[in-house]
Amino acid sequence: MEIVSIVGARPQFIKAALVSKKLREKGIKEILVHTGQHYDFNMSDVFFRELGLLEPDYYLGIGSGNHGEQTGKMLIEIEKVLLKEKPDIVIVYGDTNSTLAGALTAAKLHIPVAHVEAGLRSYNKDMPEEINRVLTDHISTFLFAPTKTAVENLHKEGISKGVYQVGDVMFDVALESIKMVDEEKVLVKYGLKPKEFILATIHRAENTDVRENLINIWNALNEIASYGDKIIFPIHPRTKKALNEVGIDINFRNENLLLTEPVSYFEMLALEKNAKLIITDSGGVQKEGYFWGTPCVIPRNETEWIELVEIGFNKLAGNKSEEIIKCSLEILNGEKQYNLIEHFYGKGDASDKIVFYIIHPQK
Ligand code: UD1
Ligand code: UDP
Repeated sequence: MEIVSIVGARPQFIKAALVSKKLREKGIKEILVHTGQHYDFNMSDVFFRELGLLEPDYYLGIGSGNHGEQTGKMLIEIEKVLLKEKPDIVIVYGDTNSTLAGALTAAKLHIPVAHVEAGLRSYNKDMPEEINRVLTDHISTFLFAPTKTAVENLHKEGISKGVYQVGDVMFDVALESIKMVDEEKVLVKYGLKPKEFILATIHRAENTDVRENLINIWNALNEIASYGDKIIFPIHPRTKKALNEVGIDINFRNENLLLTEPVSYFEMLALEKNAKLIITDSGGVQKEGYFWGTPCVIPRNETEWIELVEIGFNKLAGNKSEEIIKCSLEILNGEKQYNLIEHFYGKGDASDKIVFYIIHPQK
């Protein structure tokens, strides 16, 4: 059996790490394709190094661009690879433009698509990710859903064949990786103490490209920092650029707001685990917070990981400063103990299950 796996953006390198390793352990020939959607060292190479991913067999070098341009270039280049390699299955991850391009190219060539992280929905079609994930699900043969909610979402859209609830591959990778992280070293590097700081990440288009939302979030972070806790904010290149474009000089900020370049995955795990609060619009980060028992305030109006909001662990705050500050203070000042016993994301064996079902599809 020959498989082409398609990755391109930061979270996809992480999601693919164990599936790739386990496919190869089973003797399956895997051809790894990197679209080049993310290309900076700290958005791409660092993850290959830390997670032991092999060098991509094809690096397409697509880079940044408008959605049509970026996705279109990917379609052209991925098609060349698939025509040459003629794989039995194409695996795609998550909901980026690399996901949709990989799935669409394969489906048009009648190659079965396996979608890892199928069935997630925000029900907000203004999000490019929502379009990518809905379309990908509807042309996939294997739909590897992380949660019960994801399975139900697929059923609501009439998709039941090929759906497997396997758990979350990010949980598998986080559990494996945390063993290799020197948490103390990371905290010392950034001048932080366990449970005495806040971690923030922002990159969602609705927050970076809508001027008012970006300013609101920036103001909220500065205000929260002024109450005394340090906030470490590894800044996504998109966000750095957007802050500059709206005329915010990031050098003028509260002294407790610590800006860094994007950090490595191992560093990120250490920061998430030791933070007392995370403020993030990232899909991956809000869930990883839960793995370590660190609650999140999400500056969005909806989330795909709704179960964590439903149990009151994470809070959706929208994009207004006051609400982001209020939700953050509620968590910082609250004494609520959360029930973390419930395993929404499986047992850390999602990647084993995916490889099993790829080899033994259910009829
Ligand atoms: C993409 C995904 C998003 C995912 C995120 C993970 C889409 C539509 N969006 O968003 O779902 O959550 O990745 O991080 O696929 N840039 C650099 N260096 C890089 C990469 C990007 O400077 O290595 C800058 C460029 O200015 C680029 C901008 O970031 O225009 C946005 O990059 P892009 O890949 O288009 O989208 P993301 O916001 O990263
Ligand atoms: N991440 C990282 N360094 C950072 C920010 C995020 O290693 O500076 C990791 C994070 O731990 C998670 C993944 O990147 O595993 C999430 O990616 P991102 O937030 O870019 O995208 P999303 O999950 O929202 O699609």
